[in-house]
Amino acid sequence: MAELAQFLDGLRRDLPGNLAEFHRRTVDAGLPVISRDVADFLSLLLTLRRPQNVLEIGCGVGFSAALFAEFTTESSKITTIDRYEFMTSRAKSNFEKLGLSAKIRLIEDDAANALPALVKTDAKFDFIFMDCGKGQYLRFWPHISRLLGAGGLFCADDIFQGGNIARAAADVPRRHRTTHRNLREFLHMVMADKALKSVILPIGDGLLVSLKEDTIGQD
Ligand SMILES: C[S@@+](CC[C@H](N)C(=O)[O-])C[C@H]1O[C@@H](n2cnc3c(N)ncnc32)[C@H](O)[C@@H]1O
Repeated sequence: MAELAQFLDGLRRDLPGNLAEFHRRTVDAGLPVISRDVADFLSLLLTLRRPQNVLEIGCGVGFSAALFAEFTTESSKITTIDRYEFMTSRAKSNFEKLGLSAKIRLIEDDAANALPALVKTDAKFDFIFMDCGKGQYLRFWPHISRLLGAGGLFCADDIFQGGNIARAAADVPRRHRTTHRNLREFLHMVMADKALKSVILPIGDGLLVSLKEDTIGQD
């Protein structure tokens, strides 16, 4: 498998513009960021769908938001949420350097506050990417499902919990058990939701991709 990963890495083209350097710099600094294969897959989805309103939960230092800005249209708007000043200060400076401050709106708050506030405004998004604390996906899902417009795409990153997700709770280290339980419940709920067509892809640490379609489940 390591051989295959190395071979595939060799085939991969660099990300466009400043994104390749941004990704390398973030990985080298040991800061959290989506993996290259997830970045490549999301850029393909965005190129296909060209969403107008993108929402991200978990901005980090802003790499994925910058990727979304690159692979959407000039009129598209990206809204991204993060609660840690350490991350938001770096994200703001990265957006400024890349000339993306007008296209990306950064909400500096806990998603537990920001998501219900967005629901109250009746906002709808046609692409939502969730990449925050994995134990919180379950709690945020009711808000996400309201914010996702018909025909919209939803992706959740890192759902494999480094492989723990497949293990029985007793075999998961005690400190990861709440996340394990919440993540499993979240996955069961989304996969069973008839308003969605969902797949789980073994890229990065596992990516859930769901399409909300008006027509799904109505036949
Ligand atoms: C994996 S990092 C995001 C990486 C980013 N998506 C990227 O690829 O460039 C996760 C981020 O989620 C943020 N986060 C975790 N829980 C949060 C919450 N409840 N509300 C807002 N942000 C949260 C953390 O501060 C962290 O910056």
